[in-house]
Amino acid sequence: MATVVIIGAQWGDEGKGKIVDFLTEKCDYVVRFQGGCNAGHTVVVGNEKYILHLIPSGILHKGKKCIIGNGVVLDPLGLLKEIETLMSKGIDIDENLYIAKHCHLIMPYHIAIEEQAEKKKKIGTTKKGIGPCYTDKIARNGVRMVDLLYPEVLRSKITANLEIINFLLKNLYGANPLDEQQIFTQYIDYAEKLKKYIIDADVLINKAIESGKNILFEGAQGTLLDIDHGTYPYVTSSNTIAGGVCTGTGVSPKKIDKIIGIVKAYTTRVGEGPFPTEIKDSLGEDIRKKGGEYGATTGRPRRCGWLDLVGLKHAVRVNGFTGIAITKLDILDGIEKIKVCVGYKYRNTILEDFPKELEILQNCTPIYEELPGWKETTAGIKDYENLPKNSQKYLQFIEDSLKVKIQIISTGQKRDEIIIKESPL
Ligand code: GDP
Ligand code: IMO
Ligand code: MG
Repeated sequence: MATVVIIGAQWGDEGKGKIVDFLTEKCDYVVRFQGGCNAGHTVVVGNEKYILHLIPSGILHKGKKCIIGNGVVLDPLGLLKEIETLMSKGIDIDENLYIAKHCHLIMPYHIAIEEQAEKKKKIGTTKKGIGPCYTDKIARNGVRMVDLLYPEVLRSKITANLEIINFLLKNLYGANPLDEQQIFTQYIDYAEKLKKYIIDADVLINKAIESGKNILFEGAQGTLLDIDHGTYPYVTSSNTIAGGVCTGTGVSPKKIDKIIGIVKAYTTRVGEGPFPTEIKDSLGEDIRKKGGEYGATTGRPRRCGWLDLVGLKHAVRVNGFTGIAITKLDILDGIEKIKVCVGYKYRNTILEDFPKELEILQNCTPIYEELPGWKETTAGIKDYENLPKNSQKYLQFIEDSLKVKIQIISTGQKRDEIIIKESPL
């Protein structure tokens, strides 16, 4: 029996979906514990490409139970569309999907208010209503999945919330107010379609742990987007780090066995916010093109940069990684010299710990070590010994710096384009 947590170690899009899909083979349950359909997890199986937003990536394997935990904010419309797309590709949803009764729902007014807020202060969000939904949750005004089963409760919450939201939309933003009846009718319809999936997820997951099942917890976004430990305020609104598993599912920290950090061989970021190792010349563009670095949810081009060990050491610290998976090594093939950031310089100070101050993050200069690249291709390599020597040195440099074992190396989009040095399961 093992519980394994998969966490993005950078600003998201590290390739979590691919690694979750690979590890699902040996698991019984796959659980999402935070975030919502701001996530875009791409999984390539054969010639088919799937992008999962809310449903755990494990759904692509037959018979694996997939749970949307209480820490997730769920957009019912987004979920229904995702279910429809997957079903049209022959994926069995009804037998395998479960949704926590106490997960919070994204409402149309969350999306409407975020649309307006982004005009005033740009974070570069996915505009999926994530922040406003978590705001309501913390303010104790949220609508939860279970409320769909009690129309009077649902109605009264919509009425109370719209009173405030419509005031803001009209008077602060000069936008059109939303119609209460329309939202209510829409959500009653969603209730009808989704009620079969609703369960006490905390009970189900803990029973599964007690009975010795293998469970994968699938993180969304990444450590540097964590609401507490990321580059605030340019973050998402949930705890993306390993600690989020406990609050987002109701599983004790005592029950977590392994925590795998997913590290892209370079760095990317979507949206606004500091990015010390961003490459602003044509090499950044080349990496974006070769790596297909365009948002899986919004299609926006991802900003690309060198690997940042300052950020990664922070990720190791706040997550307690027991192992690491390096992804997209193949995208670095053919680059003559590869830079790795080993510290930040701010005014006359050298920083080795990831700063909390936005001012420092925005104005520091990265200190780089330069490693020789490799001319050979790593694409699709399945054995560590077959990797070019310089790529092995690059990996060794990362492992030595982070003091965490690299257990998995991904060398392509497909399931079998992977090197397993040490299986976490
Ligand atoms: P996630 O959000 O962390 O699941 O990552 P995304 O799916 O948003 O972005 C990762 C992208 O890289 C996807 O298109 C994956 O199919 C792709 N990918 C994952 N691992 C590899 C790899 O090792 N090599 C290459 N070339 N592509 C990869
Ligand atoms: P996956 O799971 C990369 C970013 C947005 C924005 C910030 C806040 O695919 O790695 P939000 O809509 O969450 O309030 O936006 O967070 N962001 C992501 N960036 N990958 C993601 O998910 C992201 N989810 C949100 O671009 O900068
Ligand atoms: Mg993604």
